[in-house]
Amino acid sequence: MKRVNSILNNNRYIEEIKKIETYEKNREFCVHNISHFLTMSRILYILSLEEGLNIDKEIVYAVGLLHDIGRGLQYENGTPHEKGSIILAKDILEESGFNKSEIEIINRGILSHRKYNKEGTAFEKLTYRADKLSRECYECSASDECNWSKEDKNIYLKY
Ligand SMILES: [Fe+2]
Repeated sequence: MKRVNSILNNNRYIEEIKKIETYEKNREFCVHNISHFLTMSRILYILSLEEGLNIDKEIVYAVGLLHDIGRGLQYENGTPHEKGSIILAKDILEESGFNKSEIEIINRGILSHRKYNKEGTAFEKLTYRADKLSRECYECSASDECNWSKEDKNIYLKY
């Protein structure tokens, strides 16, 4: 997991997480912090094992850690955050030792997390599911005001 730890220690990565934290200081709904990124990574890894996908663990965690990193850009200038995440991920991934074809897989995973893409690969579909499953609705104080439907909310633990 050397390259994953390199992402965690990347200065730009740390800077963007702090930026998001500042923007979301008063947000009552789900925030986009390291805890969410790690939960998403772990659920994505469990799902990929359950589905028998042979995706490298570091690639899975790279998607989880970076999928929402563009939130700060979205708050700043309206860039859709999945696109902003890819822009920011490029340097971070290169500096962490991921090669071009790995970055391509990670980018496609990041792009697919927000909207379910039925044309996507099995892994791309899982990024959408893992992101949604990683929300802790069962302990959320803003659950009544949230626009997620009752069926979508994670009231019961699945992972
Ligand atoms: Fe997310």
